[in-house]
Parts: sequence; structure tokens; C-alpha cells
Amino acid sequence: MRRLEDDLEKVLLTEEELAIRVRELGAQITEDYRGRDLVLIGILRGALMFLSDLTRAISLPHAFDLVGASSYHGGTASKGFVRISKDVDMNLEGRDALIIEDIYDTGRTFSVIRDLVRVHNPRSIELCAILRKEVPSRTVELDVKYIGFDIPNEFVVGYGLDYEERYRNLRMVGVLKPEIYAKK
Ligand code: IMP
Ligand code: MG
Repeated sequence: MRRLEDDLEKVLLTEEELAIRVRELGAQITEDYRGRDLVLIGILRGALMFLSDLTRAISLPHAFDLVGASSYHGGTASKGFVRISKDVDMNLEGRDALIIEDIYDTGRTFSVIRDLVRVHNPRSIELCAILRKEVPSRTVELDVKYIGFDIPNEFVVGYGLDYEERYRNLRMVGVLKPEIYAKK
């Protein structure tokens, strides 16, 4: 039987490496937000796995909500605009919002979602991404407070990240074999 991971050319981050780093981030956030009113805001759909691990790695009472955004619309290159498909549901007035993203690439998604969250009048807004791509020049340079890993400028899948909505359920982060794209 063909396994999902057989489509990978290489593994960049193993399940264990991701789990260790998420626990570290959770511990750091727990320290930083003691006595605050933390609300995690996960960006659908890519941040789902990271959000569900991170919320359980934070040992403070806190809430989470979800917003919907997409910029890729299939393929492996950003199309240059961000579509919002779901707003925040929770009342954020005076609370401490922490936006949770799968990957900080061009920065467009973070920037659009931060503007959206700002409209809800939180007391503070910070950004958190499990991955940051090392791109030569970023469209929007942002101060991302929490970063899991820096990765090379390659298209990756797994741990929530997709290629045409597949591979999100891979437990590791990796690069697909070139023939997977060639099949298109
Ligand atoms: P940005 O708006 O360019 O920073 O990109 C953020 C969004 O693009 C992420 O939420 C992902 O959905 C998608 N994305 C960026 N790089 C990759 C990648 O290497 N693999 C899969 N999706 C990616
Ligand atoms: Mg995506």
C-alpha cells in the first residue's frame, strides 16, 4: 500500500521535532501571558494542527477562535491576494489576541488577518507561526513574536500545510517529489 509519506522527497521536520518545539512555544506563551486574557486566533485551514497542539501546550486558562483566509488557491506560488472566508466570532474587546499561522511566507496573510483582528479592539495583538520561510525579500516584513522553525525557501507540505488540499494530515513537514507536481 502506498503511504502518504512516500510522496516526499525529503523530510525537513519530524513529528518528534515538531512536538518538542510546540511544547517549548507553549511554555513560553504560558510565561508571557500569565495574568492576561489570552485568545488564540487560528487561521484556517493550515494552522489547525498547530493550534490544536499549541492550545494543549499552554497551561493557562485561555480561549481560541478561528478565522478563514486563503492566498494560494491551488499550486505552489502565492497569488498575491488574500481572501477572508470567516471573521472572528468571539468578543475580543480588551483581550490579548495571539494570531496562529502555519507559515510566515510573504507576510500578506498575517497582515490582512491582523487588520481584521484589530477591528475587534483587542488590548494586544501578537503573531505566532510554526514555520518561517527564508525568502530573499518579504512582501510585508512583520514582527512575528513566536516562530517555531526557520526553513529554506521551498514549497513544503504536512502538519497542516497542503498541496491542493492534500498532505495536511502528514505528521511531519517535508518537500514533495517533483513528479507529484508534474502529474498536473
Ligand atoms: P503568506 O501570506 O505569503 O505569508 O503565506 C501564508 C499562506 O500561504 C499560508 O497560510 C499557507 O497556506 C500558504 N503557504 C505559504 N508557503 C507554503 C508552502 O510552502 N506550502 C504550503 N502552503 C504554503
Ligand atoms: Mg494553504
